[in-house]
Amino acid sequence: MKDRYILAIESSCDETSVAVLRNEAELLSNVIASQVESHKRFGGVVPEVASRHHVEVITVCIDEALKEAGVETSDLDAVAVTYGPGLVGALLVGMAAAKAFAWANNLPLIPVNHMAGHLMAARDEGELTYPLLALLVSGGHTELVYVPKPGEYHIVGETRDDAVGEAYDKVGRVMGLSYPAGREIDELAHKGQDRYDFPRAMIKEDHLEFSFSGLKSAFINLHHNAEQKGEKLVLEDLCASFQAAVLDVLLAKTKKALEQYPVKTLVVAGGVAANKGLRERLAKEITEVPVVIPKLRLCGDNAGMIAFAASVEYEQGHFAELDLNAKPSLAFNTLS
Ligand code: KG4
Ligand code: ZN
Repeated sequence: MKDRYILAIESSCDETSVAVLRNEAELLSNVIASQVESHKRFGGVVPEVASRHHVEVITVCIDEALKEAGVETSDLDAVAVTYGPGLVGALLVGMAAAKAFAWANNLPLIPVNHMAGHLMAARDEGELTYPLLALLVSGGHTELVYVPKPGEYHIVGETRDDAVGEAYDKVGRVMGLSYPAGREIDELAHKGQDRYDFPRAMIKEDHLEFSFSGLKSAFINLHHNAEQKGEKLVLEDLCASFQAAVLDVLLAKTKKALEQYPVKTLVVAGGVAANKGLRERLAKEITEVPVVIPKLRLCGDNAGMIAFAASVEYEQGHFAELDLNAKPSLAFNTLS
C-alpha cells in the first residue's frame, strides 16, 4: 500500500511547530520554534507577542519540517492543524498557514483539538490499547479523559479553577523563578522535604474534579506571611511541599478514575507530564494498568502530537472546509 503523509501545524500558544508523520506512527520530523525567551520577562505568555512570533517563523517551520522529513509537497495526503483550545490570535496564524497550504496544494484539511493532540502523543510509544483513560496536565488544562475507542474523547473530571501547570507557574513567580517554572520547581523539589502543610483539595471525595486555586493561595499566604515576619523559608522544602500536594491529588483522583472506568491503558500527557516526581509516583503507585507517558519532547506543545491525533481523524474521514474557524475554548464532551 502507498505510504500516507500528513503535515501538521501547531500554534495554539507559544510554540510554533510543524511535523510530518508517515502512516500511523512514523514521525519523520517535528520542528519546534519556542518563543519562551520572549515571554520570560513578562512572566507569562503575551498573546499579541505570541501571534507576531508565529507569523515570523511559520513558513520557515513548514519548509524545515518537509526538508527534515525528506518529503516533497507532492507526497503529502493531508494538512492537519490545531483549531482550539488556545489563544485565538495564535491559533489563527497556524490555521491561515494550514488553509493556504491545503488550498494551494489541493489537500484535505484535518481539524485537531489541541488536547487530543497531547493525549495522542502517547501513540509514539507504540500501539495504544482501548478503552483508555488519560490524565492530561498542561499549562491550561487538567482533565481526566475517557477514550472508549480511537478518536472519541469524553471528559470525566477536570479542574474547577487553575490548571496544574498554571499553579506551578504562579507559585514559581512568587518564589522569583523564571517562567515557565514547572521544571525548576520539580528539580528543587527533589532536593527538599515535604514539611510545609499545604491543602490537598477534595482528595477524599469520590468525584473526579480538581481544584488548585486553594493550594496556590495557601502557598502565596505562607510566602507573604514569612516575608512580613522576616522569616526565611527553605526554597527546596517549599517546592517539595507544593509538589507533594499536587501529586497526592493527581494520583488519588487518577486511581479513583481507574476504579470507576475499567480501562486497558492509562495515558499521562501534557506539559506537566514531563514532571519527574509525577513519573516516579506513577511508576510506583499505578499497578492496575500499563501507564504510557510520551517522551519529554512530545509532552510540551509540538506538532508531532497533532499529527498523531490527525492520523485517527484521517482514518475516520473527519475533514474540514476552508472556512474552519478557530475555537479558543474548544472542549471535549463530558460523559453524561
Ligand atoms: O502542554 P504545555 O507545553 O502547554 C500548554 O498547552 O499549556 O504545558 C506547559 C506547562 C507549563 O505550565 C510548565 O510550567 C509545565 O507545563 N511544566 C512542568 C514541567 N515541565 C513543564 N510542570 C511541572 N513539572 C515539570 N517538569
Ligand atoms: Zn498544550
